[in-house]
Amino acid sequence: MHIDLGCCFRKTIACTYFLLLLTIALKAQHTHINIIPQPVLVKEGKGFYEIKASDKIFWAGEAGPAAELLVSVLQPSTGVPLKTAKHTTAIKKGIILITDKKFADTVAGAYTISVTPAAITARAAGKEGLLNAVQTIRQLLPPDIENTQRVTNKIWKVPVVEITDAPRFGWRGYMQDVSRTFYGMDYMKKYLDVMALYKLNVLHFHLTDDQGWRIEIKKYPELTSAKTTVFHEQHRQPAERSGFYTQQQIKELVAYAAARNITIVPEIDVPGHCWPVILTHPELGVNNITAPDYVFPFIDSWGYWKHQFTPNPLDPTKETVYTFLDNVFTEVAGLFPGRYIHFGGDEVVHRLWENEPHIQAFMQQKGMKKVEELQSYFVQRVSDIIIKKGKLPIGWNDILADAGNLPKSTAIMSWLGGNAVKKAAQNGFYTVATPTGPMYFDITQKDRNDGTMADLNYGGANTIERVYAYNAINGLEKNEEKYVLGVQANMWPAVPQEVKDVNVQNFPRLLALAENAWTKPENKNFTAFKERLAYHYPRLDSLRIDYYRDGGYIIGTWTPEKTDTIFKKTEWDVTHKIYANGRAQAGFFYTAGKAFLKIKNVQLLADGEVIATDAHESIADKFRGIPFKKNMFFYNFTVNNYNPGAKYTLRAEIAGENSNDSNGNITFNMSPFQPFTTVETLKK
Ligand code: ACM
Repeated sequence: MHIDLGCCFRKTIACTYFLLLLTIALKAQHTHINIIPQPVLVKEGKGFYEIKASDKIFWAGEAGPAAELLVSVLQPSTGVPLKTAKHTTAIKKGIILITDKKFADTVAGAYTISVTPAAITARAAGKEGLLNAVQTIRQLLPPDIENTQRVTNKIWKVPVVEITDAPRFGWRGYMQDVSRTFYGMDYMKKYLDVMALYKLNVLHFHLTDDQGWRIEIKKYPELTSAKTTVFHEQHRQPAERSGFYTQQQIKELVAYAAARNITIVPEIDVPGHCWPVILTHPELGVNNITAPDYVFPFIDSWGYWKHQFTPNPLDPTKETVYTFLDNVFTEVAGLFPGRYIHFGGDEVVHRLWENEPHIQAFMQQKGMKKVEELQSYFVQRVSDIIIKKGKLPIGWNDILADAGNLPKSTAIMSWLGGNAVKKAAQNGFYTVATPTGPMYFDITQKDRNDGTMADLNYGGANTIERVYAYNAINGLEKNEEKYVLGVQANMWPAVPQEVKDVNVQNFPRLLALAENAWTKPENKNFTAFKERLAYHYPRLDSLRIDYYRDGGYIIGTWTPEKTDTIFKKTEWDVTHKIYANGRAQAGFFYTAGKAFLKIKNVQLLADGEVIATDAHESIADKFRGIPFKKNMFFYNFTVNNYNPGAKYTLRAEIAGENSNDSNGNITFNMSPFQPFTTVETLKK
């Protein structure tokens, strides 16, 4: 019997070839639609709608703001001068954004999109859903769409698709602390824009804390004087990290946010964490402590106060405190149109109240047995003030210590303790889930020894897997679930202060948060998310936003073989890490072995010439807590004359302490002076 092996072989080849083509085709198709957060339903079709210069964006009903937003999204990169026009039922071609009565019963923010070669049509009950639809259309376009400069010779195609979508939670939040480190208008607008891209809709704006008061209050201009908005000269910072927002700027941010479907929830943190109030109004404090007489970085609190907590909280027994807060909240309520005002309430050292005889007398007179009741009294008074302004109060869950005496109208931001969301919901308080694990993005996302600017005072890692998997309603009874308003990630820039470092902390975790907040658990899948995420890195590159990559800032290691017990000069090539003028930092992270590492005379060289030196001597050891200061095993340099053709070298003198049995990571990172103009990934 003759068996035609050749034919069989050819068939196998043909079959393999066909499968390969199919795989490529499917893959190619897959690259078109990678929306984050994952929509409820995506039905891909064949073909494209091509955006052309002659296109108009037609709108009807409440779709005007969405049409304007789409113009602003498309204009810079496409250069296409899109015009908006009123839609009439006869118009079937072009880009059409309309409100539709059929959607009246859908969840707030729900929308549909239908793309055919002739039209892109988005429908929703109102403005909110259409603004969400615009962000989905934005993501249906290639990553180049995010460029702020015109991209030439590009055909802008939107794949044919039917999308039905609705959010899981109404509160999809990101908290930006601008007190510990101040960020200006450009940064805030960039974040609002990127939040909108991923359908996050609440910016919790932590405007005041011990490190600075960042919002102009016309009645109390002293709150935003240099004394309370610029760190003392011995803690000098880059000028752009100091300051405050004028009321005019706040209005500009509120409008910018509203145009992107984002509500800004302002926080004025009282009665603790308000050192700027104590410095300018010492009479409002519970005691006479006013030292040091200036604001300074958070990580120096341990040096001044032996801990991070304000040594002089506001005095809850003084009527002048409530008059002051009434005046402040009057102006705050007038600036922010959203429903909620956050009044803080976290980390008040109750002992500082209890120590005072006049407080004890007050408690006795009011029949209060525990100091938590005094805290509830304060919260009640502040909540009443906020409610009188037509707003709803929200505070950190520290105030739940005395849940029985708390006004139910006060919502709870649950950050502390694994059981916080449950406790709030169980007691009938509306709550936002923002637990330190995994929703504090100042905490490391992978590796405590990778040189990224994470707050290492916390154990463990808030990995992207954990951010994605977290379910805010876990452990809740069915009837308690309605109290969970949503989820939020928090950024406290105490350790990460450079914009690049903050971005590396936030991204890509912010995208996992977005999907957590938007997509129902039954539609979530981490493997599928990771696949879609891969297509968002080029988008972040186009947005000029740096993100975490495995290995963090590690550029090399030291090992016993490379280490001596007498100081030896060692060099590492850092050419690939320098790509603009900026501030650079080298780090030495001990990981294993009997000996720590001694370091001194660290230098940055360009083509063999020393361009910067940080000579201080330090020890790379196990310490990762606070105060985790930059003058420990971190070395700082500036690059003022970046030369793209130069070879850059990091040089250090290192020695094992009494033994060469030492291992660790060498880390290096440069933060450009001009954030959002270039990113490390784009370095050729
Ligand atoms: C907080 O992290 N102190 C709310």
